[in-house]
Amino acid sequence: MRVTGIYEGLWENETESRVSGVELGEREKESEAGPKPGTYTKRLTREGMDKFLIRGGKALQGTVEISGAKNSALPVMAAALLTAEKVTLHNIPKVRDLTTMSKLLAFMDAKVSVTEFPASDYVIEAPTLNHAEAPYDLVKTMRASILTLGPLLARKGVARVSLPGGCAIGARPVDLHLSALEKMGVEILTSHGYIEARVPNHGSRRGRLKGARIAFDRITVTGTENILMAAALAEGETILENAAREPEITDLVVLLRKMGAQIEGDGTSTLRIRGVAELHGTEHSVIPDRIEAGTFLMAGAITGGDLTITNCAPEHLGSVIAKLREAGAPIDIVDKTTMRVRGAKKLVASNMTTEEYPGFATDMQAQYMALATQAEGTSLITETIFENRFLHASEMMRMGAHISIDGRKAVVRGPAELSGTTVQASDLRASAGLVLAGLVANGETVIDRVYHIDRGYERIVEKLRGVGAEIERLHGTVS
Ligand code: EPU
Repeated sequence: MRVTGIYEGLWENETESRVSGVELGEREKESEAGPKPGTYTKRLTREGMDKFLIRGGKALQGTVEISGAKNSALPVMAAALLTAEKVTLHNIPKVRDLTTMSKLLAFMDAKVSVTEFPASDYVIEAPTLNHAEAPYDLVKTMRASILTLGPLLARKGVARVSLPGGCAIGARPVDLHLSALEKMGVEILTSHGYIEARVPNHGSRRGRLKGARIAFDRITVTGTENILMAAALAEGETILENAAREPEITDLVVLLRKMGAQIEGDGTSTLRIRGVAELHGTEHSVIPDRIEAGTFLMAGAITGGDLTITNCAPEHLGSVIAKLREAGAPIDIVDKTTMRVRGAKKLVASNMTTEEYPGFATDMQAQYMALATQAEGTSLITETIFENRFLHASEMMRMGAHISIDGRKAVVRGPAELSGTTVQASDLRASAGLVLAGLVANGETVIDRVYHIDRGYERIVEKLRGVGAEIERLHGTVS
């Protein structure tokens, strides 16, 4: 395998970054294909001016291949900090959040080598971690930076991580991560917007994280991941109750086990972790992105198309498949990695409530709302995970959707004839919902702020065009 770029000590100051390797053009850097090996020399704020132009009305037909899961790739990259040895990761999606995670690890003095062009295989080596810090400028662009807190404490006994703060979809506190770490003996101070955490006497024999019995007050995905990683190197046993059961948790457990961790209970709400003194290097391929696959299922159904979705894991999409079938869209599970969706003769309304896995994912709620605008009848959508995750609704209403919002409930009356206009993406999954709405709208839809979608969907324009969508990226001018 050819090493074409190394992200190494790349953070020069608060707004610029550098890696050794190939010079990249301004446009190629991160906006379309996500992380590419090469030299990052431009200001981070110069991205994000792009828009999508969609001409709706095409039934999508053909085959689309699913990329690796962003929300698996993020924790497994953070887990590489737990060992001084080499961790090789495959199927990392080419999306901006993974570039951000590379920058973050490199800031801490880990070496992140990208071994393919464009990047999907990463080699991470962290023999020393001189800089146990996640700075504000990276955390503000990606809240998942909090995933480095557990590994840093386990490995270095100290961490300084910027408090993530809220985002468009909710306040998103990290109190559960912190109180669980406190139970494991960590001393935590939050001041000047940073979490300053340390394990007393780290480096001495008595100075390891301590195994603990922890019960989360509510289910948290990255909280579960942080504690899993911390507990893997703790002294003694940790029992984590009310843990998240998402497939991404299981994927992280699989990686940690390969590194030598002793963990039982993944896929259930009680995790039992017996800490070991050291973890070692390994190789791992991340699972397919179930949210990307679900989004394409919705795209096939909403456009009345016929899509074959490959490289996916239908077993992770039970709730989405059941809901789409209820709405009238035929879905065939072709084999363990392939699904086929066809347009419904008529889409019918169906109520939906978001839940933790294995329930219907909040990350699929905006896409389902787009579908509900085309279904006959009234669909009640209840969002239970995030308090402010209906920002896409008002944009869909500007396109002609009949939606009313009352707190965490949205009532969608369909079918509505959507008409193209300019709309604003407010977060990653909202953008996906608006793309789906644009695919069925009359005329042209322009979606602004698509930097949100570039955070988590690999080559979405190319993938949609490959199955017949009329969509193009309009490159914004750099101001
Ligand atoms: N919560 C707390 N305190 C905490 C942690 C969470 O009150 O300490 C609350 C949150 O505010 C939220 C709920 O618990 O209301 C669940 O939040 P969770 O911690 O599970 O979310 P997360 O770990 O920050 C991950 C995904 C999200 C996904 C949610 C829910 C990653 C990197 N992110 O976030 O993905 O929506 O779980 O499934 O895994 C996305 O990909 O677009 C995305 C937002």
